[in-house]
Amino acid sequence: MKPISRLLFLSALLLASYNAWAQSSGFAKLDAWVQIWKTGHRTYFGYPVNQQSQMRDFYEWYLSTGMESVNLNNAGDPMTDSPWTMSSQAFERDVIEYFAPLYDFDKDNVWGIVTHSGTDGNNHGIYFGANYLKNKTQKDPVVYVSDEAHYSNLRLTDLQNLDVRLIKSDRMGRMIPDELEKSLDTSRPALIIYAMGSTFKGAIDDIPTLNAVLADHPELPGIYRHVDAALFGGYLPFTRYRDMVSQRELDYESIAISGHKFFGIDSPSGLFLCARDVYDNQTDFNVTYLNFNMKMINCSRDAVQPLKFWWLIQKVGTEGWTRQAEQMLACTDYLKQRLDEIGWPAWRNEFSNTVFFRRPSKRVISEYTLALGHDENFGGDLAHVVVMQHVTKDKIDTFINTLLNDQ
Ligand SMILES: Cc1ncc(COP(=O)(O)O)c(C=O)c1O
Repeated sequence: MKPISRLLFLSALLLASYNAWAQSSGFAKLDAWVQIWKTGHRTYFGYPVNQQSQMRDFYEWYLSTGMESVNLNNAGDPMTDSPWTMSSQAFERDVIEYFAPLYDFDKDNVWGIVTHSGTDGNNHGIYFGANYLKNKTQKDPVVYVSDEAHYSNLRLTDLQNLDVRLIKSDRMGRMIPDELEKSLDTSRPALIIYAMGSTFKGAIDDIPTLNAVLADHPELPGIYRHVDAALFGGYLPFTRYRDMVSQRELDYESIAISGHKFFGIDSPSGLFLCARDVYDNQTDFNVTYLNFNMKMINCSRDAVQPLKFWWLIQKVGTEGWTRQAEQMLACTDYLKQRLDEIGWPAWRNEFSNTVFFRRPSKRVISEYTLALGHDENFGGDLAHVVVMQHVTKDKIDTFINTLLNDQ
C-alpha cells in the first residue's frame, strides 16, 4: 500500500472507531438531546427563564485562559476585605455591590451572596430571619406566608422545623391583610415572607398594607420581612416601578432573586441580600480550618456563577437590562391584548409579566411547555405564559394562531 493510501486508510479506521466509541459511550445520545433542547427552547413559554442567554464569550474566555482546569470554591464570606485567593469572592462582592443600590440598600448596611438558586436565597432569608428573631427576642418565631407563594417557602419552613401559618390570598393571588391580622400570634416574633410575583398568577403582595398590619401590633416581640422576588426582583429595578422592590420604601430585611430567570445566566443561580444587622446577628460558626466565621448555610459555594453574573453586568448592564425589561412588559401587554381580541379568557396582575388564561389542549401545552394551574374562581383549568426576553411579538402572534386553530 502506498504511504498516502495507508494514511487515508488509517484515518478512516480512526474515524470509524471514534464513531463506534461515541455511539457505545453514549455521546450520540447527548447529540440527539441537543436537537431536542434547541427545538424546545424556541417555544418555551410557561416557565420564567431567559432563553436568550448571552454566555458564549464567557465560555470562550474561560477556555482560552485554561480556567476549566482550575477548581475554585467560594466557601466563606465574600463581603470581606481579604477574600480567599482560590475563589471568585472578589467578583462576587462586586456583584453584590452593583445590585445593592438597585434595591435601595444603603451601601454601608448590606450583606449578600450569589446563591445557587432562588430557593437557596429563600432558605437563607428564612434561616437568617428565624435566627435573627431568636437571637433578639429569645423566642421562636411564627412564619406567615400566603397560599399563592412559591412552594419552596413552605418546604423550607418544614425543613427548618418552623411553625407556619398559611394566609389566604385574594382572587388575584395577593395575601389578604385581614387574614394576616386574624392569624397573628402576637406573643411570638413574626417572620413574614412576601411574594413578589406569586408563581402562577404573578401577584405582588401589598407590602405597605401588610407592614401596616404588623405595625399595628407593637406588642409583637420582633418582626422580620423576607421578600421572595425570584422573578420580579430581576426586572422591576430596571423599570419605572423600581420603588415596588425598594428596601428603603418597603423596609424589608432580606430579599432573594434568581439569576437564571431575568438576568440570563444559563443555569440555576441567584442573589441574596440582607441588612448588615441581620448578618451580624447570626449564630457564629468559627471554623478554624477554613479561617472563617461561616454564617451562611452552605460550605462550598459555586465560584463560576458569580463570574457569570459579573460578566453580564459588564456586558448587558443597567442599559441592556432596562431595554429587556421594557420589551418584556410591552410584550406582556401585547399578549393580553391579543388574547382579549380572540375572546380567550385571560388575566394579568399589575406589574406582572405573567398572563394566565383558560387552559388549551394538551397538544398546545406540550408544544409551548405551558405551566398549569387550577382555580374555580377563573373557571377551573388554567395555564400561563411568562413573557421572558425570548417571547417576542412574532412568537406571540404564532401562539395566538395556534390557539385559534385549537378551538
Ligand atoms: C416566586 C418564586 N419563588 C421561588 C422560586 C424558586 O426559584 P428557583 O427555581 O431559582 O429555586 C420560583 C421559581 O419559579 C418562584 O417563581
